[in-house]
Amino acid sequence: MDIEKIKEHIDDVLVETNFPTLGEKKIGKVRDIYIAEDHITLISTDRHTSFDRKIAEVPFKGEVLNQISLFWFDKTKDIIQNHVISAPDPNVVIVKKCKVIPIEMVVRGYITGSTNTSLWTLYKDGQRDFGNFVLEDEIKKNQKLDAPVLTPTTKSDEHDRPITPKEIVAEGIMAQELWDEMADKALKIFTRGQEVALTKGLILVDTKYEFGLDENGKLILIDEIHTPDSSRYWKANTYEERFSKGEEPEYFDKEFLRLWFKENCDPYKDKVLPKAPPELVAELSRRYIEIYETITGKPFKHDFSQTTLERITKNLAKI
Ligand SMILES: Nc1ncnc2c1ncn2[C@@H]1O[C@H](COP(=O)(O)OP(=O)(O)OP(=O)(O)O)[C@@H](O)[C@H]1O
Ligand SMILES: [Mg+2]
Repeated sequence: MDIEKIKEHIDDVLVETNFPTLGEKKIGKVRDIYIAEDHITLISTDRHTSFDRKIAEVPFKGEVLNQISLFWFDKTKDIIQNHVISAPDPNVVIVKKCKVIPIEMVVRGYITGSTNTSLWTLYKDGQRDFGNFVLEDEIKKNQKLDAPVLTPTTKSDEHDRPITPKEIVAEGIMAQELWDEMADKALKIFTRGQEVALTKGLILVDTKYEFGLDENGKLILIDEIHTPDSSRYWKANTYEERFSKGEEPEYFDKEFLRLWFKENCDPYKDKVLPKAPPELVAELSRRYIEIYETITGKPFKHDFSQTTLERITKNLAKI
């Protein structure tokens, strides 16, 4: 979709929903969650968050994220059962209600990142032993690891804390057996993700999975999978050359909107944020659509005859 078309629809965004009959509502950063007896309705909105707050609404983002997740759930369903029951609308999935395992399974195929908890930062500052794996000296930023590694964190409302598999078992979060199964599945779906991504010209660099247990105690892949919000993607065809020159890989970049806020206000302190410039929001939307098209290999089609909320309301009424 060209940027002019996106600009025409810059205000046609899904900000929030209200469907009391679907169950108890919880509001996530991106999704509205309706919890019923044995299932959950997850509605992906167009909210865009950064600095732990909403900074913009990005047209088509909810639809793109939901569709990318569905694509990957399908591509990995032979490895592990996932929570999807049905997808009654482009922005909506109905999923099996699971007991959420309070660990975020982070898998990394490359050493990168710039935040305090990223693998590259820790390595650069001298850490070599990560509990469940040890890295050798002389690894460079953005280098491919010999094999993907797991760097789990606790899933908490405040700040996620790195935790080793040994601690996970010792603290009674789960039994060794369940950890082993989760670790095995996480690495297998990551490897599948890398293989499929490569056929689309992308490197799946790292990602985060959530798992749950169903009513029979069976391990299920839940939440979202390999979306640009939960994963990092680089362009495959320019990676080697840029890496050898010490340049950063080409990547799906949404940093420019964050930077605008940092330059134009204090996003950590100001009560009210300025409105994000429409040109930047449209550009971000264009990038989300582009990565959807790259991953799925399909052109992004959107029904412009009604608003997203109208469409969702109609589709949910049918079920
Ligand atoms: N099948 C499922 N059963 C139970 N809970 C689920 C299931 N799938 C996803 N969830 C939960 O629903 C929420 C999804 O909402 P969203 O991702 O918008 O929240 P969030 O603000 O990002 O919170 P979090 O940081 O916990 O992911 C998450 O808390 C996730 O753990
Ligand atoms: Mg989430």
